[in-house]
Amino acid sequence: MDTKSFIDEKISWIKKTVGDKKAICALSGGVDSSVVAVLAHRAVGKQLKCFFLQDGLMRQGEPEWVKTTFTKVGIDVDVVDVQKEFFTALKGKEDPEEKRKAFRNCFYTVLGRIVKQSGAKFMFQGTIAPDIKETAGGIKSQHNVLEQIGLNPKNWGLEKVMEPLIDLYKPQVREVAKALGLPESVYNRMPFCGPGLSARVLGEVTPERVETLRKATAIVEEELKNSGAFQYLAVLFKDQATGMTEDKKRRFGQIIAVRCVESKDATVAGVTKLGWDKLERLQQRICNEVPGVVKVVYDLTPKPPSTIEYI
Ligand code: XMP
Repeated sequence: MDTKSFIDEKISWIKKTVGDKKAICALSGGVDSSVVAVLAHRAVGKQLKCFFLQDGLMRQGEPEWVKTTFTKVGIDVDVVDVQKEFFTALKGKEDPEEKRKAFRNCFYTVLGRIVKQSGAKFMFQGTIAPDIKETAGGIKSQHNVLEQIGLNPKNWGLEKVMEPLIDLYKPQVREVAKALGLPESVYNRMPFCGPGLSARVLGEVTPERVETLRKATAIVEEELKNSGAFQYLAVLFKDQATGMTEDKKRRFGQIIAVRCVESKDATVAGVTKLGWDKLERLQQRICNEVPGVVKVVYDLTPKPPSTIEYI
């Protein structure tokens, strides 16, 4: 792929299609939506409005990071606080599929409302080739493939959903991100799934349980950022286990799993052979710094038979 020609072609296609109308883009800070936002912004400037959904399921400091990173490249991001809606939608749900569905329904209710209110005629999405293939193949329904989940964008007042990356695979998107001048924290950004931390909380997703996981996630990401692994994450179990307090009293507490995998495209994955010192450090930091955690385990399961995420 000739990256420069790709960028030029997409920018002129966007200019021609959007004309003088308004456009909108939900920006998560992942490499796909970031590239799309920059392409659209270069093409139509202030006619584009970018927003970040603060659903309460993001990692530590993520909304602030997205806002600052994009301000630096001249794009203003509106952070929309919808945490209450998401936690209400997830309340009382423990079944993984029910949780995914609740997340997805809430996501589209919120997105539809924002799009309608904005008066935009065009919505930009970072759909890439594997999203379409995996949904069509029944592997999993990616939440960004609108028509495949029976939603008609016209009901939101849109003329068209714009998907400039639809023919690309991840490594090509990363190349485009780099060529667009985005920082390494964006073009090499580790995959993070749409449902966010809710895909890593087993059992009910409550603000308190997500906060426990968010703290553990921050430690795992900090400790493993130089591991070169494809993805590393923390998971909060539904069950509790026995631990003990400083004064040697029994108490039940939380269990955190650490997962770290090697992969090319997430279709199959192997487990990273982390050194014992690193594993011990992860255990010590998580037990010491995350209130209520009494056990840390390392997940040894490749994909298949497991998947990367836990729900
Ligand atoms: P699994 O868990 O199926 O994940 O092995 C494979 C890759 O896809 C990411 N993932 C998702 N990404 N929406 C997304 O945008 C989702 O619902 C979703 N589920 C999993 C996961 O992080 C991994 O990189």
